[in-house]
Amino acid sequence: MTRTIVVHSHRGGTGKSSVLANLALLIAAGGRRVGVVDTDIQSPTLDLLFRLGPGPSLADYLLGRCEIEATAQQVGAGCGPGGLYVVPARTGTAALREIMTSGYDVGLLPEGFDRLARHHALDVLLLDTHAGLNNESVTAMASADVLMIMARADRIDLSGVEETIALAGRLTCRRALVLSMAPEGIDRDAARRRSEEVYRAPLAGILPYSPEMAALYGERIFAEAHPDHPLVGEFRTIISALDARDEVSRA
Ligand SMILES: Nc1ncnc2c1ncn2[C@@H]1O[C@H](COP(=O)(O)OP(=O)(O)O)[C@@H](O)[C@H]1O
Ligand SMILES: [Mg+2]
Repeated sequence: MTRTIVVHSHRGGTGKSSVLANLALLIAAGGRRVGVVDTDIQSPTLDLLFRLGPGPSLADYLLGRCEIEATAQQVGAGCGPGGLYVVPARTGTAALREIMTSGYDVGLLPEGFDRLARHHALDVLLLDTHAGLNNESVTAMASADVLMIMARADRIDLSGVEETIALAGRLTCRRALVLSMAPEGIDRDAARRRSEEVYRAPLAGILPYSPEMAALYGERIFAEAHPDHPLVGEFRTIISALDARDEVSRA
């Protein structure tokens, strides 16, 4: 049975794609079969982060140009025996223009996720999203077993969490909150209480702002570059929290 984890945030730049890439690497290094789909067609990232080669993308699949199975690229280095397969969102802007003008059948998304999961016998499927609520992010959320909501500890991000939680309440997925780029000295107990009381979602992790992460400029995936950094320990804490079924609330 594949477990689908969707990473979402209200605003962009919260660290969704970078954190997702790290979680994917670490889960795969632990021996599980991992799939990743970049559903962020507006501003794709994972093709660069994973240094994917040219090839068909999710957008090509949505436009009926290929099967979803043809879009996944195996990412080799540093991964365990299970394997890591990544689907890029798009290459170039032509497909984006076409998608924006002619649209696509959104039913293709869940169908594609299912087919990918079966084709590669995935243990975990991680879906990256564009920020906010749009066709791809809402459809991804509807496919989620676990919705991981990322937010910085500011008023604007946190009001977005309330909106996302209100939507998630209508879905059947479990949910968990991750605070990202947390300032030094953040009151962890207060953050945990607020997450549970206000958002009715357990706090799966608090990721401090890390100058080393910022200085990587997306050149490498953090866990590969700094395997012993405390931030990687926080990524592992998040993975355990997402794995522990009781640790994430049912919406
Ligand atoms: N904990 C962190 N500390 C410092 N910089 C971070 C951290 N997490 C992510 N970043 C940086 O923030 C930028 C935006 O991250 P990204 O993953 O692209 O966000 P999103 O996918 O939510 O738009 C990237 O340059 C990334 O390296
Ligand atoms: Mg992103």
